[in-house]
Amino acid sequence: MTAKTVLIADDDSAIRTVLTQALSRAGYSVRSTATATALWRWVAEGQGDAVLTDVVLPDENAFDVIPRIKKLRPNLPVIVMSAKNTIMTAITAAERGAYDYLPKPFDLSTLVQTVGRALEQAAKPAGSPRPQQHNDNLPIVGRSAAMQEIYRIIARLTQTDLTALIIGESGTGKELVAQALHDYGRRRKGAFVAVNMAAIPRELIESELFGHEKGSFTGAHARMAGRFEQAEGGTLFLDEIGDMPLEAQTRLLRVLQQGEYTSVGGTTPIKTNVRIIAATHRDLRQLINQGQFREDLFFRLNVVPLRLPPLRERVEDIPDLVRHLLTRAESEGLPRKELSSAAIDRMMQHRWPGNVRELENLIKRLMAIESDDEISAASVERELSAAPAPAEAQPVTSADGLPEFMENHLSRLFAGFGASLRRRGCMSGFWAM
Ligand SMILES: Nc1ncnc2c1ncn2[C@@H]1O[C@H](COP(=O)(O)OP(=O)(O)OP(=O)(O)O)[C@@H](O)[C@H]1O
Ligand SMILES: [Mg+2]
Repeated sequence: MTAKTVLIADDDSAIRTVLTQALSRAGYSVRSTATATALWRWVAEGQGDAVLTDVVLPDENAFDVIPRIKKLRPNLPVIVMSAKNTIMTAITAAERGAYDYLPKPFDLSTLVQTVGRALEQAAKPAGSPRPQQHNDNLPIVGRSAAMQEIYRIIARLTQTDLTALIIGESGTGKELVAQALHDYGRRRKGAFVAVNMAAIPRELIESELFGHEKGSFTGAHARMAGRFEQAEGGTLFLDEIGDMPLEAQTRLLRVLQQGEYTSVGGTTPIKTNVRIIAATHRDLRQLINQGQFREDLFFRLNVVPLRLPPLRERVEDIPDLVRHLLTRAESEGLPRKELSSAAIDRMMQHRWPGNVRELENLIKRLMAIESDDEISAASVERELSAAPAPAEAQPVTSADGLPEFMENHLSRLFAGFGASLRRRGCMSGFWAM
């Protein structure tokens, strides 16, 4: 069998060289170009078994070429590489019909694997791309490597109806991600219904989800539609799923298995067509070990896990987030303010146990109380030290070993010193204690 050919378009010759070497070593033949024009010519001539392209090419944007490629050769997989990394790049790539999206920089082994998978899939019929216009109002902000990975998963998930489980500390953006999965997904014309398990009295959860018949319990004066019914054709977001009582878990599991349910007090099965997205800040594995969460339900929900990183693990996102949150608060009526770069530096040294929500609250507070147009580092310092230290969102548990305990303890300790403290200085200080 002759080697499969990969067509590469990237205006950076160093990248072309590296990619050509890696793919040749993996047994592919490769043709590479700097322009969209040459790429399009090759595709139109019937060359190539897969395409690997940068987004911004000197003569044309790859996002404009991909729909033409998919129209002419629907089974030719296109992989998009991009260094302009917003959630929209990932989503647009998926919408235009790209097979996958690789945020730069990426591992060459990831690339080779992706190309391999793309070629395997090429025999299957392609889904139809749905061109769409997007403005620059990004729903989710941050360009850290950790968030890039999240965008990549979101983009892939928007093309499916798979169940997703979003895990992350409080305030990391779980609901925001659930909403984006809906808004950019196949069901965006349907309803997005959010239910918070922790906010509903335990004995009412089943009736809330599945509805109830008149007279099915004391106080059930009339038939009531449940959230499943409201979300029909759309998305049901089950927030704080770790707080769901066991009986309701059993019922939910049955719905997921059978695609139908009965209301509380009802006997007729009702068919359901709802996409489930669940979220929790709790450790479901631990709850399973304690007998508080059904393992079989966990496996049903955890089809695609999305783990949102805490803000302290992506402090490089803080400047973007601050800009975004300032604009948002301004549109909600708070007076326009800027932050000095020293103020942002100070924010980057904080540990943010309440994550983006804590950052958002701080920004709103500063906008409301500061009289200067520019918020200074001193003001940030004052607010951060005045606020009572909230409990760590993920407390050290007995399940953690000593190394984890030490790491958590030390990072909390050093967080107080800020980024200016050098590693050696830290350690000598520590040993001298
Ligand atoms: N990456 C992000 N970009 C922009 N805004 C964000 C981002 N992450 C979180 N936010 C904002 O921070 C706030 C908290 O986000 P969200 O409610 O989605 O978090 P959560 O994980 O559901 O928190 P909780 O566990 O407290 O319910 C919201 O106002 C949200 O818009
Ligand atoms: Mg939430």
